[in-house]
Amino acid sequence: MEEFRGLQPQNIEKLKRNHIDLLKLCSQLEAIADGLPARIDERLCLNVSATLIPSLERAQALEEMILFPLLGQKPDGCRRAVSTERLVAEHRHDRLAAIDVVHALQALADGGCKISPDGTGYMLRGFFECVRRHVAAEQTGLAMLFDRLAVNKINEGRQQQAAFHGKTVTVKV
Ligand SMILES: [Fe+2]
Repeated sequence: MEEFRGLQPQNIEKLKRNHIDLLKLCSQLEAIADGLPARIDERLCLNVSATLIPSLERAQALEEMILFPLLGQKPDGCRRAVSTERLVAEHRHDRLAAIDVVHALQALADGGCKISPDGTGYMLRGFFECVRRHVAAEQTGLAMLFDRLAVNKINEGRQQQAAFHGKTVTVKV
């Protein structure tokens, strides 16, 4: 169980909460993109521009500290671990793209966006689609960790039971 030390209930809750926040921001960005060019909700643009980068950084920092080290471990009996390099690269890409998205949202709110509505919509859609794909991949990784944790708990229980009956049993899954 030592390998799952970072996966404490409060950290799992924070990881999930961060994903919910990011997906909500994606929906808001989609609503903004759908409204272009005629319907621009200035207040929504300003709200999303103020929260996007802090939300992204908060989610990424926790994932890189708690989730990725666990995903990068090879489970018993497996030859491969999840490639966390790709996820880290996506974090870097999303952070850089978020800066452009924030500038575009602020310009939309000010009424002075220099990029065409089509170009702005394309940028927003490219960003939130990447973030949604990334979150889905991490949620799959988290579900795999829960499965490993459940199997470890079952094995631990079996070994304790075997020790209680004076037997030595090695359980392979
Ligand atoms: Fe992430």
